Parts: sequence; structure tokens; C-alpha cells
Amino acid sequence: MTVTPREMRDAMGCFATGITVITAQDANGRHVGLTANSFNSVSLEPPLVLFSLDRRANCVDAFTLEMAFTVNVLGVEQQAVSNHFASKADDKFADMDFAWQTGDNGCAMLDGAIASFECVTEAVHEGGDHVIIVGRVTHLNQVEDASPLLYFQGRYAALDC
Ligand SMILES: Cc1cc2nc3c(=O)[nH]c(=O)nc-3n(C[C@H](O)[C@H](O)[C@H](O)COP(=O)(O)O)c2cc1C
Repeated sequence: MTVTPREMRDAMGCFATGITVITAQDANGRHVGLTANSFNSVSLEPPLVLFSLDRRANCVDAFTLEMAFTVNVLGVEQQAVSNHFASKADDKFADMDFAWQTGDNGCAMLDGAIASFECVTEAVHEGGDHVIIVGRVTHLNQVEDASPLLYFQGRYAALDC
């Protein structure tokens, strides 16, 4: 059986996820970021996480050549943030309506995120048309009683429980 990209995308859409915005700085110190739902945990000791990044993403060099990134887990109120960072805008931080701070690793931490993971890049693996970025978590933050933004079958969703 040959699996097409469309079939793969549709079937993967049945796997409900949270949504993150993952930020980095490029070689010129410019902030970059993208919306990603491929974020996952790898290891607790040491604390490792991963996400997969499309090789065609504009921000690919910032993640594969630089050594730091931050994963911002979005809250249910942050649909517009998700849309903003999923866009192909040239400089997503230039005309941004959303507040953010710079974390200890120099990458952007978005106000309103329900958790954040500051990472040092541990490894970059081949992954077909994506690269798999593994990060070692150096700092983390978590908001109590927060509600996540979810993604299922190509649509945003909220917890109903
Ligand atoms: C819900 C959602 C999840 C996404 N997850 C990923 C992902 O895990 N990896 C990825 O490379 N792109 C993902 N994308 C697409 C990127 O956010 C989008 O292509 C972005 O523009 C890439 O960054 P760039 O502007 O630097 O090219 C996702 C988009 C959405 C809306």
C-alpha cells in the first residue's frame, strides 16, 4: 500500500494534540517562531523533548544551526497566536499584537502560554521531509489550573470535561 501525504495528514489528524509555538533566534539575533503540534517528551532523566520541523520552513536554519529554542504551550485563548505563528510572515515578531519576554536562553516566551520549556539543542536527526530537533530542557514554567488549546482533524478544540 502506498500512503499519500494527504492520507498521512488526515489519519494523523485523528491524533488530538496540544499546540505549541516554538521560538529561536537566527544567526543575526532575529527572533523566529512557528506553530507546531509535533512536540513530545523523550526522556525525564535527562529531561529531553523533541519536535519535527519541515525542511522547507523559513526558520529551519535558526533551529538546525543555532543551539537554543523555547517551546510555548498555548492556552485555549491563544488561537490567534497559533494562526499568527503558522503564517508565512517574513518577520513574525515585527508586527505582533501579542506580548512576550526574552527567556534566559535568549528565545521568546509568549505571555499567556500555559507552560514553557527553555531548551539547549541536543541533537538534530534526519526525518524524511522533516528534521527531528531534540532539546535538553534547562528551565521550565507551568501555570496552575490552565486550559490548553487543542487540535483535532484540522480544527481547534477545547477540553470538555
Ligand atoms: C496546528 C498546527 C501545527 C503545526 N505543526 C507543525 C510542526 O509540528 N512542524 C512544522 O514544521 N510545521 C508545523 N506547522 C506549520 C508551521 O507552523 C508553518 O508552516 C510555519 O509557517 C513554518 O514557519 P516559517 O514561517 O518559518 O516557514 C503547524 C501548523 C499548524 C496550524
